[in-house]
Amino acid sequence: MAEMSSQERSDNAGRDPANVEVDPSYENDSSYGDELSSYTASLTSSVLEYRHENGRRYHGYHDGSYLLPNDETENDRLDMLHEMFLTMLWRRLYLAPITKPQRVIDLGTGTGLWAIDFADLHPQAEVIGCDLSPTQPALVPPNLKFVVDDIESDWAYEDNPFDFIHARFLALSIRNYEELIKQCYRSVKPGGWVEFQDWDPNPFSEDDSLKGTCLEKYYREVYGAFEMAGYEVCPGPKLEEWFKRAGFVDVQVKKFWVPYGVWPKERYFKKIGAWNQAQAEASGFEAVALAALTRHKNWTKEEVTILASQARSDGRDHRVHMMFTFYVVYGRRPENRR
Ligand SMILES: C[S@@+](CC[C@H](N)C(=O)[O-])C[C@H]1O[C@@H](n2cnc3c(N)ncnc32)[C@H](O)[C@@H]1O
Repeated sequence: MAEMSSQERSDNAGRDPANVEVDPSYENDSSYGDELSSYTASLTSSVLEYRHENGRRYHGYHDGSYLLPNDETENDRLDMLHEMFLTMLWRRLYLAPITKPQRVIDLGTGTGLWAIDFADLHPQAEVIGCDLSPTQPALVPPNLKFVVDDIESDWAYEDNPFDFIHARFLALSIRNYEELIKQCYRSVKPGGWVEFQDWDPNPFSEDDSLKGTCLEKYYREVYGAFEMAGYEVCPGPKLEEWFKRAGFVDVQVKKFWVPYGVWPKERYFKKIGAWNQAQAEASGFEAVALAALTRHKNWTKEEVTILASQARSDGRDHRVHMMFTFYVVYGRRPENRR
């Protein structure tokens, strides 16, 4: 097929409608109409009626249940974090020993980059990316679809379970994390795998250089607000226990250091630290703090801006060697147990 010019790509009204061919898979797939109507039903006004507050945009579906924005600025930040996580895992999307999964779901998919990469890597799999916000790109691999749903509500997947369930970075999103993992157990096939990748978001420094900085104050205030609002702030170190209590076996725990800034000597850590600082400086300090502190601790936007800029400035101090811990935990649902 001849390549389209940029003019042709920018609109299609000049094309002969007779040349717009019917997709044969649409003709042959009797469930397509049902799927479409359920998708468009999920895109009813409440989903797209975003909340605008303090100059940021927040999700509309189940308004108020997630405290970070869903606007373009936030999406750019999540994409930077995706690159940081890939760098950290040596460009692997997951660590569970899965082979040829047929049905896969990514919980709280965000901008959907993980799900897009996964669908490309596993063309045989039917992949679902699920989120409160329909902010993912429209042009995606044919084996991937995005749905708007609240993963803390009841699931409807037990009768059509998954081979692999994945969730990354749901710290500060979820109230009852342990129940979410039990829900995964009920919705994964016997023999199937579940993998959660998540933070211990408490900063530390091996040389005490964090002590007395505004970074300490920033994280104390912000996490305090999330805790007041009922969120699980620190899931990473608890995942193993929750997986085992839910019934998973062969549970593996991998732990990663995540520096902040380019202070580490080793190139691998320097790169991770650079992405981490880039996402936080670009918008992360405000994005994480704004709704939490204004809605739950009655701070003003200006007070949050000052705290965020103090944290940003201390984060630039070359003498400060801040780090975080990130966990990748995966487990298998046994074949012969309910
Ligand atoms: C910090 S982002 C992580 C996004 C993505 N997993 C990644 O690693 O790039 C958390 C995501 O979870 C979504 N989320 C939060 N609470 C949710 C819920 N109850 N149900 C579905 N999605 C939720 C948010 O909308 C957001 O996109």
